[in-house]
Amino acid sequence: MSTLKKILVDKDKSCKSVWFMRQAGRYLPEFRKIRSENKNFIKLCLNSELSSEITLQPIKRFNLDSAIIFSDILMTPYALGQEVEFIKDQGPELSEFNLERFLDNNETEFSKKLNPIYKSIEKTRKKLHKNKSLIAFIGAPWTLLVYMLNLKKNKNELDLDKLNKKNINIIKILDKLIKFLSIHIKNQISAGADTVQIFDSWAGLIPNKDIKNYCFITNAKLVEFCKKEKIPNICFPKGIKEKYKDFNETVKPDGINLDYEIDPLWAKNNLRNVVIQGGLDPKVLLKSEDEMLKGATKYIEVFKDIPYIFNLGHGLLPETDPDRVDKLIEYYRNY
Ligand code: CP3
Repeated sequence: MSTLKKILVDKDKSCKSVWFMRQAGRYLPEFRKIRSENKNFIKLCLNSELSSEITLQPIKRFNLDSAIIFSDILMTPYALGQEVEFIKDQGPELSEFNLERFLDNNETEFSKKLNPIYKSIEKTRKKLHKNKSLIAFIGAPWTLLVYMLNLKKNKNELDLDKLNKKNINIIKILDKLIKFLSIHIKNQISAGADTVQIFDSWAGLIPNKDIKNYCFITNAKLVEFCKKEKIPNICFPKGIKEKYKDFNETVKPDGINLDYEIDPLWAKNNLRNVVIQGGLDPKVLLKSEDEMLKGATKYIEVFKDIPYIFNLGHGLLPETDPDRVDKLIEYYRNY
């Protein structure tokens, strides 16, 4: 069994396990090379040969315990009929959302459009050592909705007027997304992934009065589905601060990824009956080696006597030096 599952499922606290969000990505020259030859990001995600190769790039370089499949959360809106474009230095842009078109989607067509991802998982599983986990992922319904309805005003603000003005039935869209996301989870597991991470990257932007409906209940339904299917799951409700406690008690995931704003000691005292993952600010990898290791020590020390998966509080940054990643992993291993 992989160390990830030993910790996540068996709650083995004597075991070490490490992987990083965005471990396959722009900080690796071997990724940048493939990327420069493949300008269309969606097409790259749908190239099962290259997607599998990219997934394995960090595994070849570093002493990691898990691979996360190279794809994107926006493959779901893509498969549901929206055009998705990644604009350099600006991020993703989706074509206008059409409710009728969205509600008209059928399950077979959806799975067919995402089939290259499942093929990539099959290929990767065959090449990955049996002791290593292969992690599948989805974007949480709310975070996908932010992109689908183009709700972001800027990095940290939502255009809520847009929501209110259009009188959109958000719950109806979220419910439909849950249905398709459950299928996407199931398909990834059937193809050979063994764990799923649910990214709610924009949960922190939800107004207080809506957090239960938009974040807690939607994540809970997906976790419930995973539990019914016996799929180990990890939630990442980024940016919700002290509401991590409420989230954990309502959603009851197997694992929860801390973001870099959460104090590890607070997490240890307040997040019960869940395996904690991550938390370390990816920016510390850009600082001096001393500062990086000091930052890591804080997490390793606080969590040394409970089950803990070593990871970050958000994805590795493109400016990260790969040698630093190696140093950090070795430091954790030898601690
Ligand atoms: O290594 C891995 O973690 C697996 C692959 C992965 C990617 N995206 C590849 C990717 C995963 C798990 C994601 C998740 C994802 N995608 C999230 C949730 C996690 C988070 O970062 O909050 C979100 C919000 C997205 C949407 C997205 N995809 C954005 C906003 C962008 C552009 C800006 C950015 O962060 O790079 C992407 C592009 C993207 N997805 C890249 C990669 C490697 C960069 C592609 C490139 O420009 O070459």
